[in-house]
Amino acid sequence: MEFPIFLYFLLPLVFTFRDQIVGVRGKLTCNNRLLQGATIRLIEKNYIGPDVILAENKTNFQGSYEVVGKGRGMLEMNVFLRMFHDCDDKVIPCQRTVSLRIPSTYITRGTTVNNYFDAGTMNMAFRYPDEQRSCTDRIFS
Ligand SMILES: *[C@@H]1O[C@H](CO)[C@@H](O)[C@H](O)[C@H]1NC(C)=O
Repeated sequence: MEFPIFLYFLLPLVFTFRDQIVGVRGKLTCNNRLLQGATIRLIEKNYIGPDVILAENKTNFQGSYEVVGKGRGMLEMNVFLRMFHDCDDKVIPCQRTVSLRIPSTYITRGTTVNNYFDAGTMNMAFRYPDEQRSCTDRIFS
């Protein structure tokens, strides 16, 4: 297939660095109680190179959290919400952890969040698919 010649001139416009932002709000519970002190991270997963932590916060006494991640890149960021918690977890210092992908429509250009992704209320007693266990995070962060 022939590639129209004018597209070559447009490529430099497409492959420019741009500010990107994503904001997520939500609330965690553990069975019938509010889950305080869970670690919430926004992580950018790259096709090449290591993952990047864009933002980190903890759930407050009401189990609520808010995280805003900023980035700058040529390609749209591939962002995951990663949660570390001790709901139904008796192994100390390990934590249960799960990563969920943020819909790409919530990764927007600019430097302020116009449209937060509402992750809603999640009961972390649920066993999520691809859930993992982290035993080092608490020690090294
Ligand atoms: C952390 O989460 C709390 C509770 O939602 C929020 O009030 C606070 O602004 C958040 N901090 C950051 C740095 O996003």
